Amino acid sequence: MKKMALSKKLFIGACLTFILLTQNVLANSGSRSMTAGEATGKQYFEGSIRFENDGPSCISCHSVNNAQVANGGLYAKDLTDVYTRMGEGVSAWLMAPSFPAMMTSYQNNPLTEKERKSLAEFLKYVNDTKSGQNASKGYDTMLMAGIGGFFGILVLIGLIWFKRKRNMVKEDIFSRQSKAWDAKH
Ligand code: HEC
Repeated sequence: MKKMALSKKLFIGACLTFILLTQNVLANSGSRSMTAGEATGKQYFEGSIRFENDGPSCISCHSVNNAQVANGGLYAKDLTDVYTRMGEGVSAWLMAPSFPAMMTSYQNNPLTEKERKSLAEFLKYVNDTKSGQNASKGYDTMLMAGIGGFFGILVLIGLIWFKRKRNMVKEDIFSRQSKAWDAKH
């Protein structure tokens, strides 16, 4: 078998490390998988399904601590345990939210009953599974992967250009001529 270049080996190694890191995050996500209803609520929350009346998705202002949900906005409260405080009432509360930011967002784009029910189911799920979650884990992993990738690329660049010319091409001619000049003067 042809010998593999070191840089190629390093590159493959870096790819494998990255895959393992991502797998690790996925494996740790959630202590149980979502039911269909909860998954629909998640899609509404994240905005991967649009609300029927075009209201903004919750994630633009809120976040929940759950490895299966993207990191959300930091403008408003974290909703991870809002279900403990509001219970099923959260669904009705969403009909007429009492905070100005939400009132303006939804008074002309009200959520439908089906949407509010799915969101409540989703918030219950996040609340029920919160103990298995590790706060801002995704962020740390991304940060570490970023730093690792940065140094990996530096090493790769060093290896690929290891044989680069370190002196200018005309170095020889230049030193020959300057020697000749020195001899003359
Ligand atoms: C425009 C930004 C914005 C959007 C979009 C938004 N919210 Fe809010 N929400 C707020 C603000 C601001 C508060 C007030 C609490 C605070 O200061 O964080 C709040 C409060 C809440 C509360 C009460 C929290 C508590 O502990 O009393 C719930 C529940 C809630 N939002 C759910 C949602 C849901 C579900 C959605 C998506 C349908 C949503 N919000 C979309 C800004 C927003």
